[in-house]
Amino acid sequence: MISKYSLKLPKVIFGGEDPTEELVGVLENEGVKKAALFTDASLRKLGLVDPTLEACQKAGAEVTIIDNIPPEPTYGQVQEVVDQVAGESVDIVIAVGGGSVMDSAKLACVAAGADYTVHDLLTDPKRAKKQIKCVAVPTTAGTGAEATINAIVAVPEDEVKIGIVNDDMMPDYVLLDVRMVQNLPRSIAAATGVDAMCHAIECFTCVKANPFSDTFALEAFDLIVNNIERACDDKDAIDAKRAMQVAALYGGIAITASGTTAVHGLSYPLGGKYHVPHGVSNAILLSPVMHFNEPAIRDRLALAYDRAIRGGAETDEAKSAAVIERMDQIVEHLDIPKKLEELGVTDAPIDWLAEAGIQQQRLLSNNKREVTLEDARAIYQQII
Ligand SMILES: NC(=O)c1ccc[n+]([C@@H]2O[C@H](COP(=O)([O-])OP(=O)(O)OC[C@H]3O[C@@H](n4cnc5c(N)ncnc54)[C@H](O)[C@@H]3O)[C@@H](O)[C@H]2O)c1
Ligand SMILES: [Zn+2]
Repeated sequence: MISKYSLKLPKVIFGGEDPTEELVGVLENEGVKKAALFTDASLRKLGLVDPTLEACQKAGAEVTIIDNIPPEPTYGQVQEVVDQVAGESVDIVIAVGGGSVMDSAKLACVAAGADYTVHDLLTDPKRAKKQIKCVAVPTTAGTGAEATINAIVAVPEDEVKIGIVNDDMMPDYVLLDVRMVQNLPRSIAAATGVDAMCHAIECFTCVKANPFSDTFALEAFDLIVNNIERACDDKDAIDAKRAMQVAALYGGIAITASGTTAVHGLSYPLGGKYHVPHGVSNAILLSPVMHFNEPAIRDRLALAYDRAIRGGAETDEAKSAAVIERMDQIVEHLDIPKKLEELGVTDAPIDWLAEAGIQQQRLLSNNKREVTLEDARAIYQQII
């Protein structure tokens, strides 16, 4: 356990029933005259931005809608929307979307009008200073980006994804509105839900795990393991969907307090090279990495078992095996691909993947078991 740790949170997180009125209050208190609403065209079409537009109207705030944010954007695509925001004098950015939209909004809040670009932040994230306040309304459950200080962008020239990390990227306000995730398509609910499960178990087994992160990571893991299938399968299971939304937020808080490990680290080259959705690339790597880590994290997995699975296993070895098996079962049940081949990738260059994976030291250094180049190669070998 590390000796120094901290808990960083958004200023206010609103949950429960329809938070539109709370947003009106936020806009009024912040004296917002003009808001930029970040979203994507399909979410706009689905009407998911309507409650936010209604709140802006009630608060008398003018709105500029920016809906050209692609999934898993490159730093260049994010820069384009940053420039759009810089051209307008907005008082607040409201993100209604998944991790891609929220990360773009978080970057816009530190980069619009600043004397550095998003590209500059790739190598020097310390330069980021908040210029505009940020409201996050997540529509997936999810990345937890609403409660992290990270934004992830693709770097196409290197075929990888990179996380930009700075305290100033923590959103100021979060609105958890269950209507946002009520009609999530099953495949998106599954991939984003497994991403949240990875956040929980990785943060709980991270070298930086601490009492603050454990509280959120364990609760997230318990909520996810016991709700994810129903939330994905049953359109009317609002309680399970709400549990997933809360769990995703807790996963984000755990990331900020602790950190993800080799599942996320090794998944970045898959996302960067093959544009595999973030949750899918993590789901593919989850089982091989957990088996690799097991000897080093057995006691932690046993604790996760006691909290979330509560079956008849008695030894740490049996408990930790049961946790890994339960996570495998979830990925299988949710029909998420387990091999790159299922995604049409038949010629994965193992050497390139291992070299690119091992570069992800920001996350690999969080892993309880050291991952060497040979280890990375062996792990990738299992997913082709
Ligand atoms: N900042 C962080 O801490 C953090 C953590 C994890 C992941 N990420 C990043 O977040 C991105 C992934 O975000 P994501 O997994 O939320 O997916 P996403 O934001 O990329 O969205 C995926 C797709 O789902 C659709 N979608 C989203 N909500 C929907 C809804 N309610 N109904 C119907 N369709 C909906 C979107 O339109 C999009 O086409 C990646 O770039 C990843 O690297 C960031
Ligand atoms: Zn993730």
